[in-house]
Amino acid sequence: MSKAPVIAIDGPSGSGKGTIASRVAKTLGYSLLDSGALYRVLGVACNRKKLDLTDHQAVASLAKDLDIEFGRSGEGSVCLDSIEVSLDIRSDLGSDMASRVGAIGAAREALFERQLAFRQPPGLVADGRDMGTVVFPDAELKIFLTASPEERAKRRYKQLIGKGIDAILPDLLRDLKERDKRDTERVISPLKPAEDAIVIDTTDLSIDQVVNQVLELYRCA
Ligand code: C5P
Repeated sequence: MSKAPVIAIDGPSGSGKGTIASRVAKTLGYSLLDSGALYRVLGVACNRKKLDLTDHQAVASLAKDLDIEFGRSGEGSVCLDSIEVSLDIRSDLGSDMASRVGAIGAAREALFERQLAFRQPPGLVADGRDMGTVVFPDAELKIFLTASPEERAKRRYKQLIGKGIDAILPDLLRDLKERDKRDTERVISPLKPAEDAIVIDTTDLSIDQVVNQVLELYRCA
């Protein structure tokens, strides 16, 4: 049996990946894999258990056993051990912990099979950092979204303020650059476009424009 088709959407934080992936999946009736959420949940779980992140085997074994459920109380909802963690994983601490556990090879291996399991008919839209390079190298379409760090920090700022959460733009920009550096410079699965990925700079594009561009590329793929 041939495998279900995959659209891989990779890129740094704030490039619009999450929103674009979710819109494309909805339009096509495909499932969605928010792989960043898996790393975020693992980060939050490590933090709760006060795991020493230099103990890679302990982090990996926690990653294997994680009880994660998506969508229990609506879109974007994520539960860890049946407890809602949707807000915790999106906090600054959640972002920071995700990028730290994401640099651990054994943790990435432990999350690998989990990600493959999302590939079900009629198809999958997978969003992350290494969807096109490592997890789904045979994806039908690989997109790499970028945007300037300033624009990405601005988007994050608006998002937080919109949720009533205080934020300081220069701090957000600094954190984002730090995370970018860690994600691009790590040895295992660094953030980089697959050789056959189509790079779209979203700095001056609206969400609709990017969604339409991705759908058009998929039609022609
Ligand atoms: O995509 P999101 O911003 O939610 O990802 C949070 C963090 O998880 C990233 O900064 C990155 O370090 C890590 N991640 C990863 N590989 C993925 C998805 C996310 O290393 N496929």
